[in-house]
Amino acid sequence: MFERLKDIAAELAGQDIVDLFAQDDTRAEGFSARFDGILLDYSKTLITDEVRAALIDLAETRGVAARRDAMFAGQEINETEGRAVLHIALRNLDGAPVLIEGHDVMPEVRDTLGRMEAFAEDVRGGRVKGQGGAITDVVNIGIGGSHLGPEMGTLALRPYHDGPRCHFVSNVDGADIADTLAGLDPATTLIVVASKSFTTVETMTNAETARAWMAEAVSDPAAQFVAVSTAEDKTAAFGIPPERVFGFGDWVGGRYSMWGPIGLPLMIAIGAEDFRAFLGGAAAMDAHFREAPLARNLPVLLALAGLWHHQVCGYPTRAVLPYDQRLARLPAYFQQLEMESNGKRVTMDGLPLDGVSGPVVWGEPGTNGQHAFYQLIHQGTQVVPCEFMVAAKGHEPHLAHHHRLLVANCLAQSEALMCGRSMDQARDLMAKAGFEGDELERQAAHRVFPGNRPSTTLIYDRLTPRRLGQIIALYEHRVFVEGAILGINSFDQWGVELGKVLATQLEPVLSGDSDGAGKDGSTRALVAFVRQHM
Ligand code: F6P
Repeated sequence: MFERLKDIAAELAGQDIVDLFAQDDTRAEGFSARFDGILLDYSKTLITDEVRAALIDLAETRGVAARRDAMFAGQEINETEGRAVLHIALRNLDGAPVLIEGHDVMPEVRDTLGRMEAFAEDVRGGRVKGQGGAITDVVNIGIGGSHLGPEMGTLALRPYHDGPRCHFVSNVDGADIADTLAGLDPATTLIVVASKSFTTVETMTNAETARAWMAEAVSDPAAQFVAVSTAEDKTAAFGIPPERVFGFGDWVGGRYSMWGPIGLPLMIAIGAEDFRAFLGGAAAMDAHFREAPLARNLPVLLALAGLWHHQVCGYPTRAVLPYDQRLARLPAYFQQLEMESNGKRVTMDGLPLDGVSGPVVWGEPGTNGQHAFYQLIHQGTQVVPCEFMVAAKGHEPHLAHHHRLLVANCLAQSEALMCGRSMDQARDLMAKAGFEGDELERQAAHRVFPGNRPSTTLIYDRLTPRRLGQIIALYEHRVFVEGAILGINSFDQWGVELGKVLATQLEPVLSGDSDGAGKDGSTRALVAFVRQHM
């Protein structure tokens, strides 16, 4: 499917990105797209008019628009699980009905949102109380899609956080819940158990530990628990009354779920109004995704740049580099979004993929990453396409000079990656430093930056709730477009199942209740070591 693009890439071998700018002084404008307060600049890549046309052609022939419309129309596009994919309904508050087999899901979406808002505002206003009075701390217990979104969003929107403190427990490692609960007062703590299935072993183990912790100090622990789940029978069995359960349809995938009840801790943190602004941003991006021509469509362009680098140029990973300390958890959020969605080896038809699956996604906020792994990005032998993100304006007016430095660093990195430093420039530097002869050559070689390394920059005015909603929806749709072109079902995650099954088998082996017969030699040796030292 990528043959034509690979031919073009071969013809472009030896071409420098900087030369593309020299040939076309409108390149920055021509290879960027804007929407609302956001600018996506993909001009610092080797994408030319010809490449872009071939990529758009690919998106057209692979039926991206039809699949997008099928998603919005509530069709069962998650075929391996027999489900519609309608997280977009959770933010479609001013939109048309969203139908699944003729049934409009919007009334129940609005009803649940209304219940969430009433509850969140009651918690924030001190009307929902613990045994010891108004709620001071909220602990969200969930993992994966029931954790990463609200955790990432709560940190991202810290300047808007005026509700109780929010904490997030995910790992089955007892250290996580022990460290989180230490110092909290059970009498003023609210526990949110967030699990779509309400069976995930990490979450249920942590929920039981939290209940035992609360029961030591509080006479009615269930009154300080809330459940967010699609499984009402299981939440009832856990002892959480129906009025404290916020449900959602199976048409919302875990990693796409922060827009609905899974976002409850974020709503408690920032309030119902700002949460609506967050939803409004996502809805605006949904409309843009549906309506903008492919060549000016941000999610489509970001996806095409990603496919160009990963599938055509063969770069195996992608770095997400937000220059925003409050987006520290965004790379982890995007890791699940991208890798759980498109880390698949077969197509929708169950046939082997014609190429490689989606890329490894990783990253850290700038400028911290600069002092850790950017060495490899600049001078390593593997090319890592970088996705920079930065706000023009911060939230600390009294620290505007910090923000200027932050933005300067972000822009400098993409410039350095593209321009590099030639051997001649390095020689000049070394000569000025007093080196000569062989030593000058040797020292100069270490100071060469090959350059010509691609990056995109997403720049926006300020990280408000609305902008965050837009950015997350942008990346959701980008993953969708990549999956659609690859022919992948981006909405299942069978690859996480086997490890879960084997962990369930191994637990009794570790406790000595089972002998581990049939396990491989390495696993048996590791078990033996643990049993000796536990
Ligand atoms: O193990 C993967 C996964 O199923 C994710 O897709 C999901 O977000 C996470 O586990 C948590 O699942 P649940 O919300 O059902 O506890």
